[in-house]
Amino acid sequence: MPHADASLVPDSIKTKSEFWTHVHDQLEILMGGQRHWVSNLSNAASLIYNSLQAFPSHFGDGERSVNWCGFYLISSLFPQPRFTDASMDPQSQTRASTNMLLGPFSGRPACQWIEVSPRPRGVCGDAFVKRSTVLVPDVLTYPGHIACDGDTKSEIVCPLVLRKGGEDIVVGVLDLDCLAIGGFDADDQVGLERIAALIIRSCDW
Ligand code: SME
Repeated sequence: MPHADASLVPDSIKTKSEFWTHVHDQLEILMGGQRHWVSNLSNAASLIYNSLQAFPSHFGDGERSVNWCGFYLISSLFPQPRFTDASMDPQSQTRASTNMLLGPFSGRPACQWIEVSPRPRGVCGDAFVKRSTVLVPDVLTYPGHIACDGDTKSEIVCPLVLRKGGEDIVVGVLDLDCLAIGGFDADDQVGLERIAALIIRSCDW
């Protein structure tokens, strides 16, 4: 099967629960045992986004569906410069210890970095520090929401939590935006948390 066909949604899938199980299983096949997060999260963002575009009647209000899907990750995960002396830049040092950076995504351009400490910012920062999913039916009522796209009306952010040595380490978040109010519900939360768990155990961090 061509890789792009992984994002097709068969007619036999009727519910959100079946949809998320399908996306989960397609992602597992796509990753295929390759464990680098850059490649796996790139395909995850594309697969989730394009699968949602293929199943719009169950998201948003039909006309206005999901408009963004992607990852923000702790900056220490990103490759360090090899050929320039960026380590001498005091600002980059500060950012390295306190921020998430934009990772693989599908959709329109978004903010490049999100502060998580000392003050968590936005829905993403809150999901990161709470270590739990944040479901936002109406972004205009959410204090501190970061409006990367003024057309976004609702949002869900799921943390990526790595269990290591008895400790929970949040390596980043999975963020989905929708053009309709109330675009996501508890079924989406269950489906996305299962996908987040798959991503966590399928990559080396
Ligand atoms: N709205 C998010 C920021 C990221 S964009 O939606 C892609 C937030 O409030 O954290």
